[in-house]
Amino acid sequence: MDKKPRHLMNPLDFSVEELESLMDLAKDIEANREKYAHACDGKKLATLFYEPSTRTRLSFEAAMLNLGGSVLGFASEDSSSAAKGESVSDTLSVVSCYADICAIRHPKEGAPLVASQHASIPVINAGDGGHQHPTQTLTDLLTIRSLDGKIENLTIGLCGDLKFGRTVHSLINALIRYPNIRFILISPPELRIPDYIREDVLIKNDIPFEEVIKLEEAMPSLDILYMTRVQRERFFNEEDYLRMKGFYILDKKKMTLAKDNMLVLHPLPRVNEISVEVDEDPRAAYFRQAQYGVYIRMALILTLLDIKV
Ligand code: CP
Repeated sequence: MDKKPRHLMNPLDFSVEELESLMDLAKDIEANREKYAHACDGKKLATLFYEPSTRTRLSFEAAMLNLGGSVLGFASEDSSSAAKGESVSDTLSVVSCYADICAIRHPKEGAPLVASQHASIPVINAGDGGHQHPTQTLTDLLTIRSLDGKIENLTIGLCGDLKFGRTVHSLINALIRYPNIRFILISPPELRIPDYIREDVLIKNDIPFEEVIKLEEAMPSLDILYMTRVQRERFFNEEDYLRMKGFYILDKKKMTLAKDNMLVLHPLPRVNEISVEVDEDPRAAYFRQAQYGVYIRMALILTLLDIKV
């Protein structure tokens, strides 16, 4: 009988040791691209995106192409039979016949999990509503480990839309397993971290954290500043979004308050929350972060397909 496929729905689906192995593999891929150029010859990745994306979809596709495999899929609900009413579960039963592995993004929380229950191939959650974005978390962890040298003894500021920002939820879940991590949660009162993260993840696990409104107040103590955009697509009315969207703007002046070795991360896309003048600051790491996203997704594809090089 065929082995059951392994899926990735949540960063906690991998142990810390498995995450370390995944990041070691990503670093080896970064250093030895040629060695992996045919690792997935003959394999196909399906990207099923029911929500807009630039980085996640294209970096998954670049990852599979870099490994010698092929890609197929759709970039919007409108261009698939979902527009005719096909369910995610039926779609996955079918896509399992066409591809060896798939990445799915969906506006409904839990849709990738439902998809995985109807698939005979590995399914990767590429973002589900305001819930989780595990491959962004893998990217963030690899970026921190690569640029900071370690994932421990860090004060991490998470700033912006902490209510709807799924990358923040996934990252907190993953980081609490590392030693001596402290969070400063920087948001307007309306966009505070959801209770299920504050109570069930941070308080329950005795993780030190504080919640503040002013970014300037937090800046001097941060080792990492993780900026996020206000998630327009999750607001019920445009008026609230417009009120919130200019709440935080990281600019050169605010950067003078930060440590010389603080890293600025952002899952991107950016709207206006980081002024472009910050891009030239050596502490701005968000475009390097996007590059690490390709290496970690290559490592993930190899791991879920159980391909050793
Ligand atoms: N970081 C991220 O998920 O970007 P996209 O929405 O462009 O995929």
